[in-house]
Amino acid sequence: MKNQPYLRIKFKAPQPGKKHTCPEIVQNIKEQILRHRLSGLRLPPIRFLAHQLNVSKTTIQKAYDELISQGLVESKPRLGLYITPAQKEVQIPSVTKAAFLATDQGPAYLNYHAPPSPKTINLSSDLINPDLLPLQKISQCFRAALANPDLTSKYYVQGYPPLRKEIAERLQKYGINAHPDNIVITIGSQQAISIIFRSLTGATIATENPTYYAAQRLFKINKNKIIGLPLDPFQEIQMDLWAELIQKYQPQALYLIPNFQNPTGHSYSSSELQQILLLSKKFNLGLIEDDWGSDMLSFSEFKPSLRAIGGENVFYLNTFTSKLLPSLRIGYVLASTKNIPSLLYTKSASCLAASSIDEIALYEFLYRGYYDAHLTKLQQALDKRYKFCLKILRERMPANIKWTLPGGGPMLWLEVPRHISLEKVSSKLQKQNIYIDLNQECFAGPPNLHGFPIGYAYNSLENLQKGLEALALALTN
Ligand SMILES: Cc1ncc(COP(=O)(O)O)c(C=O)c1O
Repeated sequence: MKNQPYLRIKFKAPQPGKKHTCPEIVQNIKEQILRHRLSGLRLPPIRFLAHQLNVSKTTIQKAYDELISQGLVESKPRLGLYITPAQKEVQIPSVTKAAFLATDQGPAYLNYHAPPSPKTINLSSDLINPDLLPLQKISQCFRAALANPDLTSKYYVQGYPPLRKEIAERLQKYGINAHPDNIVITIGSQQAISIIFRSLTGATIATENPTYYAAQRLFKINKNKIIGLPLDPFQEIQMDLWAELIQKYQPQALYLIPNFQNPTGHSYSSSELQQILLLSKKFNLGLIEDDWGSDMLSFSEFKPSLRAIGGENVFYLNTFTSKLLPSLRIGYVLASTKNIPSLLYTKSASCLAASSIDEIALYEFLYRGYYDAHLTKLQQALDKRYKFCLKILRERMPANIKWTLPGGGPMLWLEVPRHISLEKVSSKLQKQNIYIDLNQECFAGPPNLHGFPIGYAYNSLENLQKGLEALALALTN
């Protein structure tokens, strides 16, 4: 009750050389209560109002007594004086009556990324077990960031310059011709996707079907028309069909995840990448490459990105969150010089800037060489888990179940024959506290796959085995 809000009172200035009288104070408070139908608020303490008006406490006490007598104010024992509740409270209109975004997704979808708890097994989580993350080194870098003189009151709209330089140097090693001025740091790569598509509001966008579910959300919010290009991770991409769809619908841009595609784990072959560049040229199609996953894959240095072979017109985005610490929300976009002003305009409108502390700490992490050392260890650990998962799948799954072979990383796609109801499988598993993700938001158009992701990076190996064995049984019966 101590934090109950006080009535804030405005008083007209008294006559020159005079002080407010008790009747004037009563009249003033009364008018404000009645005119604005205020109710339930606490009157300010006597000493406070006496100080505000420069009158004696006795004057205020008398005014309050008068307000009690008039029934406008009541005394609550040990709590103070409160405005008597009005008969009818003012109803605030709901903001949803205005043009607030309407969504048919329940709040359950907000928990989609919730990490598995010790009692439950989330078989579809793409998160990485905290034991594999370099928490101690990150905390050292945060200590260094706090002592860094660059951490002044200003913030960096485009991102901390030395961090952009580190990232550019990293990208050069991967064959990407990047300049720090062409990099915009974002709050996770999710914001990179967001600011790119904000700049493309209303445009027609082609994307893989299925694709990253939260990119789809942004397309919807931005009123982009979506053209789903069917991606079957068990076959070569049907480039002729893609070309046909692109010719028919004339999208302005193509959003792709060519390395470790989410949710299938598919990585494009060089010939597929080349064909995409040809499509881009032929149909004047902007390319947006989301490279969120390549750092998690061993040997990714041998898988050049679309940006590396396609040049500066390909928007390239990447992130440090998933592999370093999901709560360290830092990603970036690399764009051509002519697109930087628009990205900065959109970013600054959405958040002004990302947290400089985080940016400086990440800079330290890269500069000290911790990131490369961490990735080597992480990739080995993920490879081991991947192989473990494949072994159980091979040993336990019925013959009609197939899965993708992403070669490492945190997850693969398990494909199930259409006659098996995924909902039934899911509810059988839920009874054992095991969860699979049947979120359909990843489909850009009619679902052309019938399955779900299997994550092997988060759960303990024991729980992973338990979950997969239960899944195999649920798919058999
Ligand atoms: C394909 C893809 N892009 C972007 C993101 C966003 O990552 P973050 O915002 O955590 O950097 C994710 C997250 O899982 C993803 O899977």
